[in-house]
Amino acid sequence: MNTSFLDACRKKQPEHTPVWFMRQAGRYLPDYRRVKGNMHVTEVARDPELASQVAVDAVNALGVDAGIIFADIMLPLEAMGVDFTIEENVGPIVNKPLKSVDDIRALEDFVPERVGYIFDGIQTTLRKLDDAVPLIGFSGAPFTLAGYLIEGRPSRELEKTKEMMYNKPEAWRLLMEKLTKMACSYLSRQVSAGVDAIQLFDSWVGCLSPDDYRAYVSRYTSEVMTSLSGKVPRIHFCANSSSLIEELLRTGPDVLSVDWRIEIDDAWARCRNGTSIQGNLDPVLAMSGGRPMREKVDQILAESADRDGHIFSLGHGVLRETPPENLRLIVQAVHEKTRVAA
Ligand code: CP3
Repeated sequence: MNTSFLDACRKKQPEHTPVWFMRQAGRYLPDYRRVKGNMHVTEVARDPELASQVAVDAVNALGVDAGIIFADIMLPLEAMGVDFTIEENVGPIVNKPLKSVDDIRALEDFVPERVGYIFDGIQTTLRKLDDAVPLIGFSGAPFTLAGYLIEGRPSRELEKTKEMMYNKPEAWRLLMEKLTKMACSYLSRQVSAGVDAIQLFDSWVGCLSPDDYRAYVSRYTSEVMTSLSGKVPRIHFCANSSSLIEELLRTGPDVLSVDWRIEIDDAWARCRNGTSIQGNLDPVLAMSGGRPMREKVDQILAESADRDGHIFSLGHGVLRETPPENLRLIVQAVHEKTRVAA
């Protein structure tokens, strides 16, 4: 097995800096578009054969050091009785957004068997990867899932979510507790099915101030992290996270994923407790390519050269218009420039 990704998660010297990309299996890849055809993304995710194929195709097409299971953060919510669709080019739409404490009481307990296809997909993906690279599992974090459930659709400011957080403490606590319980159980089942690491996606929590993060979110994220402590490496991802780095570190991840709004040098300086860092190329640079992309890759590597535990990645998911060749160039450059002489 290529252990560079797990070594970097654990702060051991890897043979080269590992690289993988969020949304590495997606519409920018011809293989993905071919397998998907006219199907919906959730149909692909529900079919262990197809889900494993697109996950493994991405690893092979790019030469990355880790695979990620093909699923979506919304899928386990279906197992709690939430009715949603994922609209192309928009994102998740929840048909009856949560408004009251009664709506939240009516959410069903998460039953992992109802998303059994995810765990079958993990086992099929592991078989196809044949130990070449580790496999990352994931879940949405309680705050980001609460955001979709309350807003009902993607939202920039998450006003309704924050309003519930501030003004309906009982509803907020109950919702966050239910989502935390789900995430712990879902991730633990993914680990039992064989994933080698997990990433918690708290994509939208960057809209909170550090004080609010501490008051309304931190304890739930910490509970998810703690539930997996000592089992597999845990990555925390949040876009727009630079104002929250210290708070996110307190939740106890092994790896903190940072985006391009902060220079990685600053991120290293602020990770005083020795957490590994994943990041942080702007996905637009990966899409637009050329010299600006190559120069930023070099800068990120230079600023991480004396640090243990760097995982090279983008600050958010691969954009649809990205030429796969650009990602292959990044992987090659990172590997060549960081390979430790044998
Ligand atoms: O290789 C991979 O990383 C793919 C697996 C994956 C998907 N969704 C499949 C998918 C992962 C890791 C996700 C996570 C996810 N889903 C997040 C967290 C990551 C982030 O980007 O912040 C979020 C917020 C979602 C919710 C969601 N699902 C959005 C916002 C969208 C985009 C809608 C669009 O059409 O642009 C989706 C749909 C989705 N999930 C796609 C994929 C590959 C694209 C739609 C498609 O292929 O038809």
